[in-house]
Amino acid sequence: MTTITIALIGAGYAGQSHAFGYRNAQLDDALNGVEIVLDTVVDPNEELANHVAGKYGFAKASTDIEQVLADPAIDAVSLALPNRLYVDIVPKALAAGKHVFCEKPLGLDAAEAEVIVKAAQASDRINAVGFSFRRIPALAALRDLVAAGALGEIEHFRAHYYADYAADPDQPLT
Ligand SMILES: NC(=O)c1ccc[n+]([C@@H]2O[C@H](COP(=O)([O-])OP(=O)(O)OC[C@H]3O[C@@H](n4cnc5c(N)ncnc54)[C@H](O)[C@@H]3O)[C@@H](O)[C@H]2O)c1
Repeated sequence: MTTITIALIGAGYAGQSHAFGYRNAQLDDALNGVEIVLDTVVDPNEELANHVAGKYGFAKASTDIEQVLADPAIDAVSLALPNRLYVDIVPKALAAGKHVFCEKPLGLDAAEAEVIVKAAQASDRINAVGFSFRRIPALAALRDLVAAGALGEIEHFRAHYYADYAADPDQPLT
């Protein structure tokens, strides 16, 4: 049995999606032989960190990111933070020996993204970015068709993405 112990850093909207995913993944037979341990939720908003930890089955909550990065029990961190923080935190997390799953966008501009990518390339830790749609089966199948040349050479692509999350007229525009 391989154990992967996870800390979620940032407990807002996207962080809660990560927590939901990890909790569901614990039940997935495809993970046969891997145990996911939900250890800590970190957020400066202590009440939120506690709430998310309790709701998704993490053992504890913390407001101290440095302490969590220094904890040798944590194998991997899942980052769902304000974008301006990634350029500092991703290299720090990799240097602390953590595997890193980071939300997108990677920083505020291309220069910050490059710093992050270089830190990942220099590390032997596993890294990934939260491109949400990459693993959706229908899109993966479409990608395979394109890669196999079944659709010929793609010269133009137009798509619509329908989502209801902003359908409430009383909700602020984001
Ligand atoms: N992949 C997707 O489809 C998707 C969707 C939404 C958001 N995102 C990305 O996710 C990230 C977070 O967005 P969100 O909508 O969840 O924002 P959010 O504001 O809801 O959550 C951010 C959280 O980070 C916390 N935080 C701030 N500083 C911190 C620190 N130093 N340590 C720990 N926590 C800290 C805040 O208190 C807040 O709870 C952004 O990078 C965003 O672009 C990705």
